[in-house]
Amino acid sequence: MTEVTVRDFRPEDGEALSALVVRCLREVNSRDYPAELIDRMCDHFTADRFRELSAERRIYVAEHHGRPVGTVSRDGNKVYTMFVDPDAHGRGIGRRLMRHVEELARAEGHTFMETGASHTGHGFYHRIGYTDVRVSDTVFGVNHILRRPLSGA
Ligand SMILES: CC(C)(COP(=O)(O)OP(=O)(O)OC[C@H]1O[C@@H](n2cnc3c(N)ncnc32)[C@H](O)[C@@H]1OP(=O)(O)O)[C@@H](O)C(=O)NCCC(=O)NCCS
Repeated sequence: MTEVTVRDFRPEDGEALSALVVRCLREVNSRDYPAELIDRMCDHFTADRFRELSAERRIYVAEHHGRPVGTVSRDGNKVYTMFVDPDAHGRGIGRRLMRHVEELARAEGHTFMETGASHTGHGFYHRIGYTDVRVSDTVFGVNHILRRPLSGA
């Protein structure tokens, strides 16, 4: 997708990111997870939750013509909360967000990037160079832990 830029989260993004994540959960992730779990995750990702999380992690926003179309969060070399607007899937925005956080982690001296993936995100991470490390259980269900080396760190 042309003209997609990645920038830091701003408090006023909370509402748009909450709506984007809830759409993903209801329209995409609901294929892989029970309704009760999807409801719980939708309740979790409120606008205020994003604002709270921004104090704990760096949150990034992919923007197209001034509209948020994706988000990812980072704490050092750990990746969280990767979601792309369902209308814009398959256009390289997820890869773009990941390359953005990988560059920042590499610049801080990290030698690998680590992410946790739902069933839905697992194939995506394989496709962009991540390999499986282990599987863990969380309150939000099964979590595939994957890593990708950061060359030149
Ligand atoms: C997973 C997700 C973030 C991918 O974002 P995206 O912008 O659609 O991905 P991209 O267009 O950058 O895809 C990069 C590559 O991965 C592939 N890919 C994307 N999603 C995939 C999937 N679920 N399974 C396998 N491959 C996938 C693309 O085809 C593309 O391949 P290419 O190199 O041949 O072009 C997006 O589908 C999404 O938001 N899903 C719902 C929320 C979710 O599950 N988030 C992950 C939580 S761990």
